[in-house]
Amino acid sequence: MTNKYIYFIGNWKMFGKYKTLKSLKKVITFVKKFKKNKFRLIYCPPSTLIHPMSEIFKKTSIDIGGQNCHHSQNYGAYTGQINSKMLKDAGAKYVILGHSENRLLGEKDELINLKVKSCIKSGLKVIFCIGETFKQKKKKNTKKVINNQIKKGLKKIKNKRNILIAYEPVWAIGSGITPKETELFDIIKYIKNRLKNVKVLYGGSVNPKNIQNLRRIENVDGFLIGGASQDSKNLIDIIKKTYN
Ligand code: PGA
Repeated sequence: MTNKYIYFIGNWKMFGKYKTLKSLKKVITFVKKFKKNKFRLIYCPPSTLIHPMSEIFKKTSIDIGGQNCHHSQNYGAYTGQINSKMLKDAGAKYVILGHSENRLLGEKDELINLKVKSCIKSGLKVIFCIGETFKQKKKKNTKKVINNQIKKGLKKIKNKRNILIAYEPVWAIGSGITPKETELFDIIKYIKNRLKNVKVLYGGSVNPKNIQNLRRIENVDGFLIGGASQDSKNLIDIIKKTYN
């Protein structure tokens, strides 16, 4: 990995309690001492924890992101929803969009595109998730699928400065399986050729064991970490092992 900054993004999904946030003190102490300015750590907790966590990380370099939002920039009668302005107001600087777990619930590229536009307008950085299913991989359709997701999801977004791509093969999420390093290198290269000057992260079963192989992929700019990011010790281990 030859890049200046490596991104570590923790996606907590539907996990996390206010009571257990105390354990984040460990992470703050670690980040203050370890390789300052070499990496960016961003936590994407459930919406209920965005504000308390942004307070906890106030005087640190750690940032907060949301995991999704409604596509409307305006406030409105949308029960159960929050918009990009509300994420920003709660202390988020980033937002995950197009995660396969939401695509699975029926979120389409066109809707994701509206969300991307709204979030960029609100001044959030977007972690835009793409990736193929196992079936699509077997049919050798990976590049076709991700090309389509990029084309539709990022339609009419000229300035990609505030977009990070997270390549997350659906079959690698939560499965303990990761793509071969050569495969990952090739797909990341494809994405970087397709979208110039965009950071590309890998996500899917990143853990303290496989990070030593994954970090060898030269063109990867960081990692989107689900399960393993919920435990401070695991997350610290992943960051340490990226550099050792
Ligand atoms: P995982 O999740 O690390 O638990 O596989 C990654 C993600 O869904 O972002």
